[in-house]
Amino acid sequence: MLLEGVLLVVQALQLANALDLPAGSCAFEEDTCGFDSVFAFLPWILNEEGHYVYMDTSFARQGEKAVLLSSDLQAEEWNCLRLVYQITTPPGSVSDPSQLNLYVRFEDESFDRLLWSTKEPSDSWLIASLDLQNSSKKFKILIEGVLGQGNTASIALFEIKMTAGYCIECDFEENHLCGFVNRWNPNVNWFVGGGTAKNTHSILPQDHTFRSEHGYF
Ligand SMILES: *[C@@H]1O[C@H](CO)[C@@H](O)[C@H](O)[C@H]1NC(C)=O
Repeated sequence: MLLEGVLLVVQALQLANALDLPAGSCAFEEDTCGFDSVFAFLPWILNEEGHYVYMDTSFARQGEKAVLLSSDLQAEEWNCLRLVYQITTPPGSVSDPSQLNLYVRFEDESFDRLLWSTKEPSDSWLIASLDLQNSSKKFKILIEGVLGQGNTASIALFEIKMTAGYCIECDFEENHLCGFVNRWNPNVNWFVGGGTAKNTHSILPQDHTFRSEHGYF
């Protein structure tokens, strides 16, 4: 009986872990959860201590790319894709900043659809919230970093999270981080930003199949 109880607890914990990380998600705790760097480009490097992946000037030059590709995903209903990221640039203005792009690649298409893009540097992690339309086709998510100008440029991804349903508003005042736990640093706050923030805008037309701005912010 006791053993059974222990087993049940273990199973419940395993289930909880599985639920913590739905397909298309990764917290970069120990690995990249099936998000693999595309061989033709530079790799995203896993920082196991900080639990993020990054590219920076220690191994990349201006204009070089690192591309992360998810495993096959399916979305039978609308999903919310959240990305926690940070772009850093050296002080002062740069004419060619680093850029982070997110694409969707459908199984039967030979091109990638750009869903979201940002060049906005920040002192803190930012959260981009992107609504993903349901589709009967399998797809992969591509996350591309293009290193910009400057000797201290970097791009880092802290978490990718895909959850069922539309994106809901994240609220920092009430310490509600859209289900994210601020594991990074208690002294550093996250900002709600990216796809739906006022200072960043989607480069897609509103009538595109995928709408990254869904009126939730
Ligand atoms: C998306 O979901 C709606 C509602 O369930 C359904 O009517 C529609 O056919 C779906 N679209 C695709 C492309 O699967």
